[in-house]
Amino acid sequence: MGNVILIGFMGCGKTTVGLRLSYRLRKPVTDTDKEIEREEKRSISDIFATDGEEYFRRKETDCLRKLTRSVRNHIISVGGGVPLRAENRELLHELGQVFYLRAEAETIYERLRGDTTRPLLQCSDPQEKIRILIEQRDGAYSSASDAVIQVDGKSFEQILQEIEALCASEWR
Ligand code: S3P
Repeated sequence: MGNVILIGFMGCGKTTVGLRLSYRLRKPVTDTDKEIEREEKRSISDIFATDGEEYFRRKETDCLRKLTRSVRNHIISVGGGVPLRAENRELLHELGQVFYLRAEAETIYERLRGDTTRPLLQCSDPQEKIRILIEQRDGAYSSASDAVIQVDGKSFEQILQEIEALCASEWR
């Protein structure tokens, strides 16, 4: 379907890389979190607080299904929990070329320190939670992806260049 998909942990840079890639390659950008918030007319924090995580996870799968029917040649950044479901990993592969923006727990912690928009990290020890979740998720992210981009210490420019070099030829 010719899409470029960005996956990875919260705070790894999917949204920013997606926007910059979109500008550079002149392709539209879609973000699953934003699609869900638009459809539900409320924030992700509200969805988690009112209907719970499982409801949100179903919305993510619905959103991916819709994207497989509707988007071509887009850049798509997906919420950090999307690749955890096997069904979603299949949908991601169907959608296009998947890049895993991989970051160490320390990098994520520094970037998300003080963030209040990620319900999973509103706990007494977010640093430890980040470490545990990354350890649990790294395998799923890797198996969902076609290529891994290690982002720690790199500028956005470096990351964009690495992605562009690996993009299917019709994108370059
Ligand atoms: C989540 C990541 C968030 C958002 C929700 C759950 C996760 O998206 O979908 O808070 O489970 O990792 P970002 O990865 O864009 O922060």
